[in-house]
Amino acid sequence: MDKKVHELLNDQINKELYSAYLYLDFSNYFKEVGLDGFANWYMIQAQEERDHAMLFYTYLQNENMPVTLKAIDKPDKALTSSMDVLKAGLEHEKLVTSLINDIYGAAYDVRDFRTMQFLDWFVKEQGEEETNATDLITKMELFGSDAKGLYMLNQELGARVYSAPSLVL
Ligand code: FEO
Repeated sequence: MDKKVHELLNDQINKELYSAYLYLDFSNYFKEVGLDGFANWYMIQAQEERDHAMLFYTYLQNENMPVTLKAIDKPDKALTSSMDVLKAGLEHEKLVTSLINDIYGAAYDVRDFRTMQFLDWFVKEQGEEETNATDLITKMELFGSDAKGLYMLNQELGARVYSAPSLVL
């Protein structure tokens, strides 16, 4: 495997684990303010991010490439309101999309078609992640300022259940 592609794939394990850590922080924020449904939504989001990390980890192992685990950064977003959290989530997903695109670009440059095929799932997933994050912001704008609306939204997000990723390596 190309050195740069390998480095970027290995780094992505760390970025996905950081994403899990960030969403755990978001979940904790909502738990503290009493919005259990929002807390549930981000707890499941954190689980998905751990799954993403494991997919990169397993892909490198399957390719007989070394995996180097690095220190995970502390979540660094200042969380002062529910809307802040939702917006930080969307901003973060856009960053992750750009990271996936960077790996894809590096793989494309060296005609690493197997890595490109592996990443195809993530390209689609990032589209869904950005849509979900944007939808949450829209719903919060529409219903969040009204107590009853916020209650209903919290109930809706509390109903989210975890499902394993559709990509299996
Ligand atoms: Fe693993 Fe939400 O990107």
